[in-house]
Amino acid sequence: MQLIMEGTARLLEGIFRVAVHVGRILRLGFVRRLVRNAWWKARLQAMGDESTIYPFVMIHEPEHVRIGARCAIAEFVHIWGSGGITIGNDVLIASHAAITSVTHDPKARCFRETTVRKAVEIGDNVWIGAGAIILPGISIGMGSIIGAGAVVTKSVPPGTLIVGVPGKANTEHLPVGKDLHKGIWVRRSTQH
Ligand SMILES: CC(C)(COP(=O)(O)OP(=O)(O)OC[C@H]1O[C@@H](n2cnc3c(N)ncnc32)[C@H](O)[C@@H]1OP(=O)(O)O)[C@@H](O)C(=O)NCCC(=O)NCCS
Repeated sequence: MQLIMEGTARLLEGIFRVAVHVGRILRLGFVRRLVRNAWWKARLQAMGDESTIYPFVMIHEPEHVRIGARCAIAEFVHIWGSGGITIGNDVLIASHAAITSVTHDPKARCFRETTVRKAVEIGDNVWIGAGAIILPGISIGMGSIIGAGAVVTKSVPPGTLIVGVPGKANTEHLPVGKDLHKGIWVRRSTQH
């Protein structure tokens, strides 16, 4: 009996290996990506050329979400779009980031009965780190970085690096500005 089980497991493993090779030869990953992007393009308010939305991304009410060109939205990003979300060009959003344009009235007797919508705007060339949270009504200026795990509770001027909870601008150790036209980072000198 054990011999049969082991044989079956080996056979299945072999079949999977062959399937993976065939998939690679036929470039099925590329096709899957094309289909996934076409699916989102049809549902979003707008999605620019060369943008990629990776698997397992969740976007509620995508008809209120605009995504620019050359953006990458990684696995498990969660977006609540009903208040309106605009994402610029060349934006990177890492895994498990959450962006919400909708909340509830914290003063209400029953939160469930209230829905508060506030638009979110993310400028060009913004990088949002893994697990960051962007709250309703926030604007993030172009060229900014939101560090992994930061919770952004206030709007962010262009070229700012935000870290922590609640998110604060880090102006001591980290890159604080760059020439956006040349794409060159300007690092502030550190004292250690
Ligand atoms: C914010 C970030 C870009 C800074 O990178 P960096 O300039 O190389 O920063 P360093 O590692 O030199 O750290 C500098 C300081 O900032 C702190 N820091 C760095 N990232 C931080 C973060 N996300 N939250 C809080 N503090 C952070 C470090 O502890 C260090 O503080 P110290 O000097 O007091 O010890 C980076 O840490 C980050 O969060 N990247 C996101 C990575 C990610 O999400 N990847 C997924 C795929 S894109």
